Amino acid sequence: MLKGKKIVLGVSGGIAAYKAAELVRLYVKQEAEVFVVMTKSAQEFITPLTFQTLTGNPVHTELFSLLQERDIGHISLADRADAFVVAPATANLVGKVACGIADDLLSTTIMATRSPVLFVPAMNVNMWENPIYRDNQARLEKFGYQFMEPAQGFLACGWEGKGKLPDPAAIVEQTRVLLSPQDLSGETVLISAGPSREEIDPVRYISNYSSGKMGYALARVARRRGARVILVSGPTSLEPPAGVEFVAVTSACEMRDALMERQERASIMIKAAAVADYRPASASTQKIKKSQHDDLSLSLRKNPDILSELGRIKKGRILVGFAAETADLVKNARDKLEKKNLDLIVANDVSASGAGFDVDTNIVRVLGRDGSDEQWPLLSKEEVAGKIFDRILELERN
Ligand code: CTP
Repeated sequence: MLKGKKIVLGVSGGIAAYKAAELVRLYVKQEAEVFVVMTKSAQEFITPLTFQTLTGNPVHTELFSLLQERDIGHISLADRADAFVVAPATANLVGKVACGIADDLLSTTIMATRSPVLFVPAMNVNMWENPIYRDNQARLEKFGYQFMEPAQGFLACGWEGKGKLPDPAAIVEQTRVLLSPQDLSGETVLISAGPSREEIDPVRYISNYSSGKMGYALARVARRRGARVILVSGPTSLEPPAGVEFVAVTSACEMRDALMERQERASIMIKAAAVADYRPASASTQKIKKSQHDDLSLSLRKNPDILSELGRIKKGRILVGFAAETADLVKNARDKLEKKNLDLIVANDVSASGAGFDVDTNIVRVLGRDGSDEQWPLLSKEEVAGKIFDRILELERN
């Protein structure tokens, strides 16, 4: 979603300025266009040449530079930003902007922009906790400027505490928030993701190929758009998304209990998990030894159908299910939509290439309780997630 977006990155003078180079690299990797504005003291820590090389754009440093003003003045820089990020933001810079002081290119450009602005402070922990700084940040927040919390850790000044620049990947994610409509704010979205794992004995289990990627993409997108997110996940190799309430579960029964415990808080529920339909009737407490069996059959018991259970208690809330099919996609999906009392079902033919388990893309057919039936093209799982939330908002409006 950063592709083609214009990001103005302000770099002010703290030791963390060197980390802004990594941040730029991540933006550029996402195909964003980056324009860097540096304060004079930032140039004591890192050179404009570094940013110019990484962005492929001239770096702006001077308020009264004849050449820079002719090519692209501070107002035009301020106007062109889709998002304005200041990382690192020093106490000095935050203080200046909070007081309306615009005495260099960066502070002037921040004051002149109408784009959303994200400050990413990094400083000594005592400066961060200083009531003067706190007051300045609160004043800017009141005017709609956004701030990230510094990370905790060992600081360059020798102190231990809060003050480190957050991980550049987290700043990129917060930039996506800045660029997203906050149309899910006020919603609590409960999402299930990943496979369930059903124990046979202490070293073996039954599971499926689900990677959790679709459910995690839903969680990230919902959070970006302002929702509170609870993600209940079976075992996956994915990092839990930042800023979501994450609940790790293993079996279908644990997943059911975790969802039931939290469903009352949710206004939207999405079941993207691939739940095992059956579990061993009794898991062996000891490893099953092959010397004891020539033929071995497992007796299986049906797991609770969590989606159906949620369908029975959902009342006016939105409930979305997934349908993994290999044949009769539309008929099976429509049956599940009705039987499980869903508002939307996202069906995919898991045997098609580019769709289903463990890939970053999906090809889905989306059926609604309103009779709608849409075939979406090959999209990234995040794009699918975005379109699912667009459909949910449409259903809520009708
Ligand atoms: N689901 C669930 N609990 C189960 C099985 C499935 O909540 N025990 C949910 C899945 O999370 C998904 C939807 O039901 O949102 C459809 O899952 P799917 O495996 O396609 O269908 P099933 O209901 O299991 O039916 P079948 O296996 O016969 O296709």
